[in-house]
Amino acid sequence: MKFSEQQRALACAVRAARAAGKVIRANASAAKTIASSTQHDIKLELDVRCQKLIERSLRKDFPGIPLLGEEGDSGDTTAAQRWVVDPIDGTVNFTYGIPHACVCIALQEKAKSPRLGGYTDGYATLIGVVYDPFCDELWTAIRGQVARLNGNRIQVSRRRNLGEAVVSIGFAKTRENLERTLPYFNELVHRVRKIRIMGSAALALTYVASGRFDAYIESGISLWDIAAGGLILECAGGEFWRQPIPGRHAYRMIASNGLLRRTLRVRY
Ligand code: IPD
Repeated sequence: MKFSEQQRALACAVRAARAAGKVIRANASAAKTIASSTQHDIKLELDVRCQKLIERSLRKDFPGIPLLGEEGDSGDTTAAQRWVVDPIDGTVNFTYGIPHACVCIALQEKAKSPRLGGYTDGYATLIGVVYDPFCDELWTAIRGQVARLNGNRIQVSRRRNLGEAVVSIGFAKTRENLERTLPYFNELVHRVRKIRIMGSAALALTYVASGRFDAYIESGISLWDIAAGGLILECAGGEFWRQPIPGRHAYRMIASNGLLRRTLRVRY
């Protein structure tokens, strides 16, 4: 895809993310309709409504590009390009009235060789947009360019000492993933400045990209939670290590400023 096309796709994804963000903000204090839930997860009727809105918006400018989303796919998601969408990342926060959630939209392209893509099925992220409608913070990136927050360049922190680091941990949705993470949490909590558990993986990635956090760790995360934020982090100079695990587009990951990953990986 030519650079001018990438810029057009970025503008289109920004419009879609802002439109969904408006709906999310407007519904912040409204009663939420729960479509389904498990012990550690909730799906809202609004998740589906926002994904449809995003899809309609993206289709206006790019009618031929399929969409792979948390709330289902449309079109052939093995095509040369695809949108990857999480309409509300941080649904549990949003349901409980905690204003920490965001919209994530990424554009991915099939890499020439699957090894180069960075994701299990051989895709690489070209464009990433994460929008927090509560703080009106918009992160954007195009592969190979700098990452931006509300138009201003951002960079990861320079902290290399774990004892000074603020590290965020995500506790995902299954017993297996929680049990993998708990011992790591128990160990790390004594070694870092502070642990933060905020409930939105995409915002945690953009917080690392912005130098607010020094690292973010989670096992059992899904592609739509990390595709946009992962690119934003890389474009901000960070390191986004991920490894596939069983499940639909599932990964475990360590996102960091690049200076702490070795130390963090020791036991994870
Ligand atoms: C979830 C959030 C949460 C993370 C979960 C994700 P969702 O996304 O990002 O912080 O721990 O693994 O699935 O379900 O709110 O879109």
